[in-house]
Formats: sequence, C-alpha cells, structure tokens
Amino acid sequence: MNHLLKAKQYLQLWSDRDHRWMSVPVAMAALFVLLVTVKSCQGIVYNYSDECRIYKLGYSIDEARSLVAVLSEEQADSLIARQQHDTIAIPLLGMRYFIAENFVRYLKFHEADTTGAPLDVIVAMVNVGYDRDWESSAGPCDTSKGQLMLVNGRHYLDESYKPDSLVTISMDYCYEHQQAQPAVVDAFMALQQACKQQTDAQLMVNSAYRSYQQQIETHKRNPKGYAARAGGSEHQTGLALDVTSRQHPMRWPFDTSEEGVWMREHCHEYGFILRYSKRQSQVFGFVYEPWHLRYVGKEVAKRIHDEDITFDEYYAYYIEPHALSRRGAK
Ligand code: DAL
Ligand code: ZN
Repeated sequence: MNHLLKAKQYLQLWSDRDHRWMSVPVAMAALFVLLVTVKSCQGIVYNYSDECRIYKLGYSIDEARSLVAVLSEEQADSLIARQQHDTIAIPLLGMRYFIAENFVRYLKFHEADTTGAPLDVIVAMVNVGYDRDWESSAGPCDTSKGQLMLVNGRHYLDESYKPDSLVTISMDYCYEHQQAQPAVVDAFMALQQACKQQTDAQLMVNSAYRSYQQQIETHKRNPKGYAARAGGSEHQTGLALDVTSRQHPMRWPFDTSEEGVWMREHCHEYGFILRYSKRQSQVFGFVYEPWHLRYVGKEVAKRIHDEDITFDEYYAYYIEPHALSRRGAK
C-alpha cells in the first residue's frame, strides 16, 4: 500500500511539472514506434546473416541453421559464394567422417566427379587430399611415424631409406631369402600357426622387404597397377608381406581359398591389415590385392578393421593433426 501511494505521489509530481502534455496514449505510441524500429533493425541485420543468406540459396530454415551451426564463418561464406543449392550439402553433415573444414572441397569434388562416386567415397578422398593435384599434395613419407608411416604414390620414401632393423624370415615361412622388421616376422609366425590350426593350410611369404632398387625391377616386371613405383612401395619399409599358401600359391585362387578368406578375416588379430582391400580399390582405384599384408600393430589393425576404413583414411583421421577437427565420428 505504501508503495502504491509513493508511486501515485511520484506520478503526481511528474505531471505537475512541464510534462503535462505527455499523456499515456502518447507514451504508448512512442513505445510502439521504438519497438517497430528495433524490429526493423533486427530484420535488416537478419537479412545479412549467414542463416538468411543460406536460406535464400534454397535450403529450409532448419537446414540453414544446421549448416551455420557446423560451418566456420569462412566455410559458410564460401558456400554462399557458390550461389547455388547443393543437394549433397545436408547429407554431408551426417557422414561419419565429415570434417567441417573440408566442406566446400567436398562440394567441389562431387561437382567435378564424373564417376558417380558415393558420398562416403567423396568424403574419404577429400579427407586424404586426393581432390588436390599431385604437386600440391605429394611429399616425403614421414618415417618418424615408425610402423604407422604412410607410404603411397603421394608419400614416398627416398632411395636411401632402409629400415633400422631387418631379420631374415625362416624358410618354414617363405620360399626364398626374405627379410622384414622383427615385429612383423613374429606377428606373421603367430598368424601362420593360427591359420594352420584352423584351416590346415600353410601361409607362405612370397615377398617381404624390397629395397628401392629392387622395387624398380618389380615395377618393371609386373603388369600395370600391381607394383608401386619405387619410393611408393610399403615393401621398402619392411612392414609389408605378400602372402599366399602352399596349398594355393597363385594369388587369385588364394583369394577365394579357405585360408585366403581366413587371413582376410583374422589378420587384424595379429596386427596386420589388408592394405589394398576392396575398399581401398573402391576409394582410390588401386588394384585389389588380397595377398598384401601391412603390419600396423594390433590396436590400429583392429580399429581399421572395425571401422572398415583404409589405412590412408586412418592416417588422415587419427595421425595427422587435422584429425582434431573431425566431426560426427562415433
Ligand atoms: N603391390 C604393391 C602396390 C607394392 O608394390 O607395394
Ligand atoms: Zn605387396
């Protein structure tokens, strides 16, 4: 009550002064004008927002909001600069290995693709830099990564590279003198014994460490696609083995043999991956090589197996620094 009285007195004082002309309706009108002005300003500001500009490209408001929530300012600007509605923009956000900073590269790579590659392949190729030309993406292999070094046509070893330690593989496991890194030989022996117990077949190493010079010869001898150029072969690391079996020494019958299938399904338990898997072939166009094992250690091999990704992708997501910006991975 006391407060009401005070308010009344205050109003009385106020109206007794020079403000008598200012009636309640005038105050209301002023307030209304103020609100309309604020709203208009908000409208003008919204008109220039990324959300609205993306919406105007043909996305729904919800889609525009999702894009703004995920993309950096720079990526959103690049999307807007395209001045078109990209049908893959929203599906991209749900891809498991979507990396926000690669967003516009996905769009451009997809646009340029004439093969009809599925979206997960587009994402994988861009994530490993295959949308870039060779000159800008190739460089020396980072051998400091040890058993996780990435060797391919774009990450190459120089002529002088030789693993620190190579051991000779016992003739129980190969047909002629072969060498590999010690951990690889141990793992292969365990793999071979398990395979023998479960399939009765005897896995054998056809080829293991190859020097740069030997790879030049191998490259010359083999049909196109079956041997990497010197410098781009994992065999030079001492971490790769070409494997068939005594029962199926030829590569293709080995692929569908019981032990070939067993090796594909179980090699990760011993630290190996099938480096040139069907997925590798689908994503990067390499020849499928069911005989080429690459040692990466049990933990990494399991992850690559469980996630069904290639080693190049694993390297891009988990070993290279931009893995930190990976989004959407489970
Ligand atoms: N056969 C694989 C590609 C190599 O030569 O390393
Ligand atoms: Zn090989």
